[in-house]
Amino acid sequence: MAKNRTFTMIKPDATGAGNTGAIIKMIEEAGFRIVAMKKAHLSTDLAGKFYEIHKERPFYGELVAYMSSGAIVPMILEKENAVEDFRKLIGATDPKKAAPGTIRALFAKSIDANAIHGSDSDENAVIEGNFFFSQFERF
Ligand code: RTP
Ligand code: MG
Repeated sequence: MAKNRTFTMIKPDATGAGNTGAIIKMIEEAGFRIVAMKKAHLSTDLAGKFYEIHKERPFYGELVAYMSSGAIVPMILEKENAVEDFRKLIGATDPKKAAPGTIRALFAKSIDANAIHGSDSDENAVIEGNFFFSQFERF
């Protein structure tokens, strides 16, 4: 299978708890190459734009407030079958339902503070990667 890319973002609960390094280690050990990476703090405006796809859902306001409450670490990752394999590595949205050994099972605190984001399709991976990185920030 050809290599493809996904987009991820370590969320404020995990950066705040000092788990950034441990999570990046798991990502690299699972065979993902880091194509681009930075640390940032989203404004509510930018968090709202990033999650615009969830605008009509009841948790949108909380999600935007949460995602702009602390530092995040966005990354573009590359691997064979990247999107699907990364969703397996992070586990279910609700950490209570996440499989043992997944990033969310190990580090997430709740369904909102769930440690990490992973793109749900190749198409969204490109859109989300372009939201945070220009072509000059990739290799
Ligand atoms: P993500 O986009 O962050 O990787 O998470 P996901 O695909 O597993 O879940 P998604 O449905 O895209 O939802 C985005 C984020 O919104 C919060 N959420 N809360 N209270 C709820 O029922 C609920 N559902 C989703 C989660 O923090 C989720 O990561
Ligand atoms: Mg999602």
